[in-house]
Amino acid sequence: MYKKTLAKEFKRAKNFGRRHIEDIFIFRNVADNLHQKRILEHTKNLPPLCDEGSALVEKLRQDGVVITSCKNLTINSTPLFLESAYKIKEKLSREPSENVPNEPFLLASPSLVSNHPETFLWGLNEKLLNIAENYLGLPVAYHGMYFHRDLPNAKPVKSKLWHRDMEDYRSLKIIVYLNDICDESCGPLQFIPKNLSEKVSKKLGRNYGYTEDSLMQSLIPSHTWKSCLGPEQTVFLMDTVQLFHRGKVPLVTDRFAIFFDYTSRYPKRPYYCKSSLPKEKMISLAQGLSDQQIKALFWRDVVD
Ligand SMILES: [Fe+2]
Repeated sequence: MYKKTLAKEFKRAKNFGRRHIEDIFIFRNVADNLHQKRILEHTKNLPPLCDEGSALVEKLRQDGVVITSCKNLTINSTPLFLESAYKIKEKLSREPSENVPNEPFLLASPSLVSNHPETFLWGLNEKLLNIAENYLGLPVAYHGMYFHRDLPNAKPVKSKLWHRDMEDYRSLKIIVYLNDICDESCGPLQFIPKNLSEKVSKKLGRNYGYTEDSLMQSLIPSHTWKSCLGPEQTVFLMDTVQLFHRGKVPLVTDRFAIFFDYTSRYPKRPYYCKSSLPKEKMISLAQGLSDQQIKALFWRDVVD
């Protein structure tokens, strides 16, 4: 246990150092130019989108967030995905929360997810991959699925605090609610609008790290903060790199939500990218997938 904590702290310190070296102006400038060049070169290879997909991507580019629903996304595998998702929800809701003292949420284990592969594989649907690729402007990497059960009145730590993700220049998270989130007491995902997120970063002098409510309130009035509300099976697409965001701690009941996670295949900080499932489990789920899906799943092994 002690060894594990030490290794984790060492890795954290190493990544911190690496990030600071990369952010030195000259290095950052070279990396930013290469990123722009890649986007330009990839424009002609972007997969075509249906009208609905184009509208979602346009709105994402404009606001960094868009709301839809499982029904409106019209994906063939959605009924199977939902059937399995509710089975995971049922199992996860029976787990004692004392198993994770001091944590604000429980996550479905890799074994539980692999026993219901329709959930993990829904995120690899070609329609979603095409939306992600068009939004990111680059070939897409799929980092998997995190099934959350957020606990009421938990201590606001980690993703319960305001932050921007830092894996890439842009990111895409697809969030599916599995219970009604009708008001702030239900623990909605919250964000700060795109133009204001930029202002907050400038005021803070940083894009990374966690920010407490009191500090955020002193920088930007809380009436400008937005809550993602909707009935179960509402879906939000959000760029969590561009927007400050957090999961508000629910006050009364558990909040169940699934997060699907995408970046480009050339992430700005690959050492912060990890897959939700171990590689052997991904290999076991990969049978019958298309070339596009395999490349998104095993993106680290793809040589372009
Ligand atoms: Fe985040």
